[in-house]
Amino acid sequence: MLPTHLLFPIHHGTRIQLGVTGSIAAYKALELLRMFGELELLTGVSITQAAARFVTPLAFQSLGAQHVYTTMWDGEDSAFGHLEPAQEARCLVIAPATANIMAKLAHGLADEILSAQALAFQGPVILAPAMNPRLWDAPATQANLETLRARGVRVVGPGSGAMACGETGKGRLAPLEAIVAQVLKSLTPQDMAGTRVMVSLGPTREFFDPARYWSNPSTGLMGGCLAMAAWLRGATVTVVHGPVDLWFPCDVARVPVQTAREMFTACTGLWPEQDLGLMTAAVSDFSPVPHGSEKFKKSSLTDGPIQIEFQTNPDILKTLGQNKARNQKLLGFCAETANLADYAAQKLAAKNCDLMVANSIASPGSGFASATNQVYVVDAVGRSEQWPQLTKPEVAWRLLEWITHLLP
Ligand code: CTP
Repeated sequence: MLPTHLLFPIHHGTRIQLGVTGSIAAYKALELLRMFGELELLTGVSITQAAARFVTPLAFQSLGAQHVYTTMWDGEDSAFGHLEPAQEARCLVIAPATANIMAKLAHGLADEILSAQALAFQGPVILAPAMNPRLWDAPATQANLETLRARGVRVVGPGSGAMACGETGKGRLAPLEAIVAQVLKSLTPQDMAGTRVMVSLGPTREFFDPARYWSNPSTGLMGGCLAMAAWLRGATVTVVHGPVDLWFPCDVARVPVQTAREMFTACTGLWPEQDLGLMTAAVSDFSPVPHGSEKFKKSSLTDGPIQIEFQTNPDILKTLGQNKARNQKLLGFCAETANLADYAAQKLAAKNCDLMVANSIASPGSGFASATNQVYVVDAVGRSEQWPQLTKPEVAWRLLEWITHLLP
């Protein structure tokens, strides 16, 4: 299953081609095909003879492949099967890619169906190598890698870790999310290339003692969707995040923080270098005055209610708004239980934002930890809209459309 913050419905019905070569990681290509299906991409598959020893064409057919190419010669495939992906598919991804297919691609060999299709392919090509670390480190493989990169082939991974052969090193297939994300990116116009985007997301934790904190149920999903939408469109993305469990591509810069004050320091430090601030974090407005470095003990209680004092935290969004240059744009979120339109307009003005997005945390299918959101959006030039319930990736895509139109 793909994580929700990759489920962008932006390329439904787009045809891609998945090439599979003879590595033990070939079994993961089946899951990759399912993920492409979740995105409603139409996937043709080409498997080499070596790959067919690990996984069968039938398995790919059963999981929804448009057509499974195995050979140029058995007559089952059309006479021009070696050209069909070049004519129909918008992207060719080879996962796993062995040292052998890399060598063939680097040198223009076309002696079986996949290498012939790859040689004819003029669109974006993505390789996800997987092989034993010695094969990966071999000077010939590294030279082929350089050749392919220089020609514009995108390479995802490999990662490091324990290998099927028992060795440890570099050569593991990249995480499937990373491969899917590169495919989506290769299909997406890079109209935000050169735009620097900072996204704050997730909750903050305000510690009372080493065992207890004050926080909220934010999962960071809305911010994760915005960060991925900007990344897919080619932006340079920095994510300042509280404790969340969200995957991001390795070229998204991550700044992990715990407390509102740490988030304040990180965001205000990064802000002068950004074009766009997308501030979705559920920042704690108050922190308990810390008890100290020792755990608060029940035995220290007397009868009656416990008194805990709270102190206010700095408002990050407001501070960024006060220090906003003419070329910078700022988007804020507000979580409300009532009067969304009024509060959104007030906060837009009070925090000097360009766009304010209000979501109701009182209605089902909206707000914290929900896969969907129902928002009211108002901007600084007087436009406002109430949107129906949409998935969070859909909301993110629309918001980014809106705010990028406000950029100079
Ligand atoms: N925000 C912030 N720093 C804070 C509090 C909030 O940057 N200390 C930001 C949030 O990230 C969000 C926006 O301000 O983008 C609105 O947050 P919200 O909690 O809805 O509003 P508050 O200004 O905190 O007002 P209230 O809680 O009273 O509604």
